[in-house]
Amino acid sequence: MSLRDATDLFSEWADKGKDRGMEKGHANSVHEMLKIANLPRKSNFTAIDVGCGNGWVCRLIGEDDFCSRIVGVDGSQKMVEKAKSLDADGEYYVAKLPHWKPDTAFDLIHSMEFLYYLKEPEKMLKIFHDIWLKSGGMTVIGIDHYLENEDSLDWAEALNVHMSTRSEKQWEKAMLDAGFVDVSLHRVGVKDGFVGTLAMVGHKS
Ligand SMILES: C[S@@+](CC[C@H](N)C(=O)[O-])C[C@H]1O[C@@H](n2cnc3c(N)ncnc32)[C@H](O)[C@@H]1O
Repeated sequence: MSLRDATDLFSEWADKGKDRGMEKGHANSVHEMLKIANLPRKSNFTAIDVGCGNGWVCRLIGEDDFCSRIVGVDGSQKMVEKAKSLDADGEYYVAKLPHWKPDTAFDLIHSMEFLYYLKEPEKMLKIFHDIWLKSGGMTVIGIDHYLENEDSLDWAEALNVHMSTRSEKQWEKAMLDAGFVDVSLHRVGVKDGFVGTLAMVGHKS
């Protein structure tokens, strides 16, 4: 059977209300990631959440008094419709990545559980670095599917979608090859029975 497009799978999840389950399941990791991203901040910043699902992280980031613009992008029409239904004034775009680019660069690129759905995630990292991020900006990218998380290794088959499986070392190299500096990898949201979300952090000089 041919693989499904991940965005079709997540549109189905949006229809079934499973976006709320993801929101709950990812919350601990994302809260730690936003701390790493220095939120709350003390000066104005702009941000984008990539693979934003129902937009819950956009709304969280948007609560920061110093957030002057927050954008969400996702390839699932249904997820973005949901985001807009929860936040009519929010700025959300439906776009299949990597074939889209924002109108300006941002101070912060956040992403949770999106990157490995791409066939060439390394190229997306380079695009984030070269085009989407301002000089002096930072990115925080969380993924639960990676080689060291053995429990995640059967997900692609179970869901019948493509997942790019990389080790922590390979992700670190991909961040460095993309041009990021001060790269660090963290395990966040660790709890009993879960080795943690791999949070990759990088800056643009
Ligand atoms: C596991 S969900 C995570 C959603 C959200 N970040 C969260 O934490 O609730 C992955 C999201 O990435 C989106 N996605 C997957 N592949 C994509 C692609 N090529 N372009 C744009 N979005 C994509 C899906 O539609 C889905 O909403």
